[in-house]
Amino acid sequence: MALLEVAGLAKSFGKLTALAGVDLAVEAGEFHGLIGPNGSGKSTLMKCIAGAERPSAGAIRFAGRDITEAPPAERARAGLSIKFQITSVLPSLTVYDNILLSLQAQGSLATLLFSRTRAALHDHVMAALEQFRLADRAGEPAAILSHGEQQWLEIAMALAPKPRLLLLDEPTAGMSLEERRLTGELLGPIRERCALVIVEHDLDFIRDICDVLTVLDQGSVLDSGTVADIQNSRKVQEVYLTRV
Ligand SMILES: Nc1ncnc2c1ncn2[C@@H]1O[C@H](COP(=O)(O)OP(=O)(O)O)[C@@H](O)[C@H]1O
Ligand SMILES: [Mg+2]
Repeated sequence: MALLEVAGLAKSFGKLTALAGVDLAVEAGEFHGLIGPNGSGKSTLMKCIAGAERPSAGAIRFAGRDITEAPPAERARAGLSIKFQITSVLPSLTVYDNILLSLQAQGSLATLLFSRTRAALHDHVMAALEQFRLADRAGEPAAILSHGEQQWLEIAMALAPKPRLLLLDEPTAGMSLEERRLTGELLGPIRERCALVIVEHDLDFIRDICDVLTVLDQGSVLDSGTVADIQNSRKVQEVYLTRV
């Protein structure tokens, strides 16, 4: 059984159909890219998986449980973590405290406080920062980080509670080419403990880091398969060549 199974997921906003019955399966440890033209439903799908939007129809199973109706906090406790398109870093807090806050928001700070010593909690926060090259910025306010570093801080915040699946919606938007390359490099090692669903416009980036791609078009899955399958897909070429 796949780690995440989305079946027949639909979402309407009034008369507008954002998702028209989407199926998606993500295996443990898989890096799964979600691509498609603007407005094709990528963010809506991510929000439905995370519990930030309620689907109009369909089912979502995660780690063997039906979470279609589960509130976001319960999904987070089950091991689901998301970084939305819009930033959630608190600029006046230090880089360190932003990580602490993310642990609290995910409901895992209390567990960590009770089950570990203060030193172990500190090590946990520092390890989360080290992974994204932010350890030497720990005491600085998040506001003075560069755009790319703020994105990495957010990814570190999403990963700090040690999720089994991370959802990233356009994490490299606004990044320089070098920051993009580094992002791919920094995400690589998480594969051993966490699966990834990532929305990206940069096809070179997504080709480099993903095993499987799903292409959305107008709220439906146009095609899904390995990177090579999708590169050779006539249906996908048509959409990308004629409409994007
Ligand atoms: N909260 C909302 N209210 C109304 N329409 C929305 C809302 N969120 C998304 N939509 C619409 O749903 C469609 C899919 O949007 P979205 O999922 O953001 O696409 P993508 O992320 O692929 O660009 C678009 O037509 C968008 O305008
Ligand atoms: Mg979007």
